[in-house]
Amino acid sequence: MHKKIYEIPEDWADHALVSAERYQRLYDFSFRDPEGFWSEQGRRISWIAPYTIVKDTRFDPHKVSIKWFEDGTTNAAMNCIDRHLLTRGDQVAIIWEGDDPSQSRRITYRELYEEVSRFANVLKKHGVRRGDRVTIYLPMIPEAAFAMLACARIGAIHSVVFGGFSPEALAGRIEDARSEVVITADEGVRGGKRIPLKENVDKALTRVSAKTVFVVTRTGGEIGMEKGRDFRYEEERESVSAHCPYAEMGAEDPLFILYTSGSTGKPKGVLHTTGGYLVQASITHELVFDYRDGDVYWCTADVGWVTGHSYIVYGPLSNGATTLMFEGVPNYPTVSRFWEVVDKHAVNTLYTAPTAIRALMAAGEEPVKRTSRKTLRLLGSVGEPINPEAWEWYHRVVGEGRLPIVDTWWQTETGGVLISPLPGAIALKPGSATKPFFGVVPEIVGPTGEVLHGACEGNLVIADSWPGQARTLWGDHERFAQTYFHAYPGKYFTGDGARRDEDGYYWITGRVDDVINVSGHRLGTAEIESALVAHELVSEAAVVGYPHDLKGQGIYAYVTLMQGVEPHDALRKELVSWVRREIGPIASPDAVQFAPGLPKTRSGKIMRRILRKIAEGEFGTLGDTSTLADPAVVGDLIKHRAEV
Ligand code: WT7
Repeated sequence: MHKKIYEIPEDWADHALVSAERYQRLYDFSFRDPEGFWSEQGRRISWIAPYTIVKDTRFDPHKVSIKWFEDGTTNAAMNCIDRHLLTRGDQVAIIWEGDDPSQSRRITYRELYEEVSRFANVLKKHGVRRGDRVTIYLPMIPEAAFAMLACARIGAIHSVVFGGFSPEALAGRIEDARSEVVITADEGVRGGKRIPLKENVDKALTRVSAKTVFVVTRTGGEIGMEKGRDFRYEEERESVSAHCPYAEMGAEDPLFILYTSGSTGKPKGVLHTTGGYLVQASITHELVFDYRDGDVYWCTADVGWVTGHSYIVYGPLSNGATTLMFEGVPNYPTVSRFWEVVDKHAVNTLYTAPTAIRALMAAGEEPVKRTSRKTLRLLGSVGEPINPEAWEWYHRVVGEGRLPIVDTWWQTETGGVLISPLPGAIALKPGSATKPFFGVVPEIVGPTGEVLHGACEGNLVIADSWPGQARTLWGDHERFAQTYFHAYPGKYFTGDGARRDEDGYYWITGRVDDVINVSGHRLGTAEIESALVAHELVSEAAVVGYPHDLKGQGIYAYVTLMQGVEPHDALRKELVSWVRREIGPIASPDAVQFAPGLPKTRSGKIMRRILRKIAEGEFGTLGDTSTLADPAVVGDLIKHRAEV
């Protein structure tokens, strides 16, 4: 464990929104009296009818039920737009920076109001009603935020699907959500390359059906349009009014579904509701990033992930912030791009992922140092554990040793940050997400479910609910209860392992289930396995993660071919592109090993522990292999280990 401590810089200790003393006081209050704490904090957003009930939550595995502010009514789009119009109508809400550095756009709150209203009116005109699911498959353009907020405005439930997902993956998500409307663009642009989004939608819709597709023009590239189903958004936009009233929604009405990977093959539709989610996004955006009026705040995530939902759209906009939305990638046109964007738009807060930091670190210091970055006040990290070397580089080179780094631990299911430093309150340790946010009660449990105390290591659970918690999995409450509440009854199981040190700091050690984290993207090994076995020459597959210098974890696939099929290199390549096609580029295996047999117990269960060790090259610590049905397979696997 890294021993170094970075004390709170003096200017932060004196001027931050939350000082060390205030953190302790508020944390204690939130712990002793969660209802009292959240009753006050709930008022940070605007309500139509105020709530009188604050918390009604039950973690009992047989009756899981989570409700916050349940008798209050509000609207998320009203909170992100309308309530700012009087005071900051002319303030920029969204700065859009295109993939091509010569393209950018600035959208004021008043313009945001009109764009979102128009989008909402287009949806209404086409019959979208409260509770309907709308799939959004867009690149990082302002219309993605407009579309999300338009859904929120009329009470429709958005399901954003990351633009890097394949037609197959998109089809599965449209089908699961029973979504009849899809919003897409002709093409996306990233790193100078075009992504055929509309074509992908067309392919998806050969497998599942949707009534209406709206196509936003991004490149003007040639696409097919199906009459009666496909509509050009720009034409629709002209035909409607720029004013649309917001719907009065219950705090517990669904706001969005977001699909994420679990330990089985089928992605889970994590459901977030309106009031509690917004309160969590708002308070964490303000306090974790010490957000001040006038700040320019940049989260580099894609809106296809929860980070984009909470920290590009809902958190910053509910706080009346200026949020930067970036279409491109860190290394295009050059590896200085991030820092050039910081200088161009005078960014104060930069929130990015360890995988990006590691990639930029590999490009050396010069591309950073030739930029000024003097407007930066705070750095953030999210998505996977950050290794101390990358942390130190981020701190020393990007932050010139003067900027705090908030390493924020959270999940799609948590809605907002749960463990993180507050920059004026908590001294930093590189690689540690440090301390719980207000109202969050982390615990570490041992192998038999016992709660461990003091310095310890085990599985990370959260003992009580927080407002931004997911309420269910879309259409499968039983799976929700099973996944998160059965392992440790009465507690929410995160799926992560963690260590707590003698100062009470938390160190997330990574997933303890069959989920892997590749470049901050969460993937289920079972998902990749089912893609592999869908290939006609594959009889069986087992996928594990292994440490990867840039991606955090790489994907290692063991593949058993059908009888009589000879393994060869071209087939290996074909399987890699097969998985790309089935799921998307982020799921491409880094290594494929043809394995005539897999290590199984006598009852037929694959022993992944052994496969993980072999992928890691740790042959000395395979553990007990005597219970295997055929112990000889292990020697063969070691002998033919793939190059990684
Ligand atoms: C998983 C959740 C959080 C939004 C983006 C990812 C890992 C996330 C950290 C961090 C160590 C982290 C965990 C978690 N993770 N942030 N700061 N330190 N691990 O959301 O796709 O739902 O993935 O990402 O393993 O369980 P997600």
